[in-house]
Amino acid sequence: MNYSRIIGTGSYLPDKVLTNQDLEKMVDTTDQWIRERTGINKRHIAAENETTCDLAEHASRKAMEAAGKSPADIDLIVLATTTPDQVFPSTACLLQSRLDIHGSPAFDVQAVCTGFIYAMGVADNFIRAGSAKCALVVGAETFSRIINWKDRDTCVLFGDGAGAVVLEASDEPGILSTHLHADGDYASLLQVPDGVSRGYEKVRDNAAFVEMRGNEVFKMAVNTLGRIVDETLEKNGLEKADIDWLIPHQANIRIINATARKLGMSMDHVVVTVHDHGNTSAASVPLAFDVAVREGRIKRGETLLMEAFGGGFTWGSVLVKY
Ligand code: ACO
Repeated sequence: MNYSRIIGTGSYLPDKVLTNQDLEKMVDTTDQWIRERTGINKRHIAAENETTCDLAEHASRKAMEAAGKSPADIDLIVLATTTPDQVFPSTACLLQSRLDIHGSPAFDVQAVCTGFIYAMGVADNFIRAGSAKCALVVGAETFSRIINWKDRDTCVLFGDGAGAVVLEASDEPGILSTHLHADGDYASLLQVPDGVSRGYEKVRDNAAFVEMRGNEVFKMAVNTLGRIVDETLEKNGLEKADIDWLIPHQANIRIINATARKLGMSMDHVVVTVHDHGNTSAASVPLAFDVAVREGRIKRGETLLMEAFGGGFTWGSVLVKY
């Protein structure tokens, strides 16, 4: 059992929808500007009493059902989030209890928009090492809680959601390779500059919000995602033409287009859902993946490249024989 295979997917978006037209009434922006610069039409926002764990639970139940697995089968939970329900326990532990899973390791991974890619890397290594046989891997966010809804530079970009996959040990691939990177020197370009240890009140009033130097993040994202594509192909001795599907982080259609161009891929083979939910951070890749799987676009045996870039900076990829 040298590999982990994806055997089920699930996703969830909260009911409440915030359209570009709604945002026109909140900040100085237009539907046209948002669509042209980002490709986003709407985003989903968690209800007041709805938390990251609620979203994660919906997505996880769907993934477990698709995989045909019961709670007793799951022996590892890795949950990627930047917006946990509580300081502790981890959202993974809260989810574990909701799903009636007991005793398995359960922990959160924090790598912002690259979180799901990191979580997949961790779970894949657990399975390859023989430390787990059936892992639930989740990306879930309520990013709306850390958005300044008066800041047009950021509030048009983000939304809430969750996605999940079940991984199982297998003799056949499976996940072919995972590639994880970070460079903390870029923290100031994309951050929430406040937190528990700094003391929320001490730094600045109302500082627990996303701050971003959008233009610089954009350029770094395009260049870095190009490099991670090269690194992934080279490691596996593959050509660009060997990739059947690109499943990119859903942040901005222009970043997605640039990565597809780099791969020489027609947009027919790129999964794009950013128009429906904006940037859902760690939830974005598994959300897009689940949509394409359920629509029957992605088929068993195809080669998939998942990639993401986010705060940290963090970036990474997962190459999958589906
Ligand atoms: N509505 C209308 N005008 C706006 C808005 C808005 N919501 N936001 C900014 N503008 C204005 C700016 O003030 C600026 O005006 P000026 O020319 O008078 O100064 C003008 O639009 C152009 O601003 P730019 O920042 O140059 O616009 P750009 O084309 O770079 O698009 C954007 C901005 C969409 C934020 C882009 O830089 C981007 O997507 N960056 C990546 C950000 C991202 O995705 N971050 C998420 C985490 S990292 C990741 O997931 C990849």
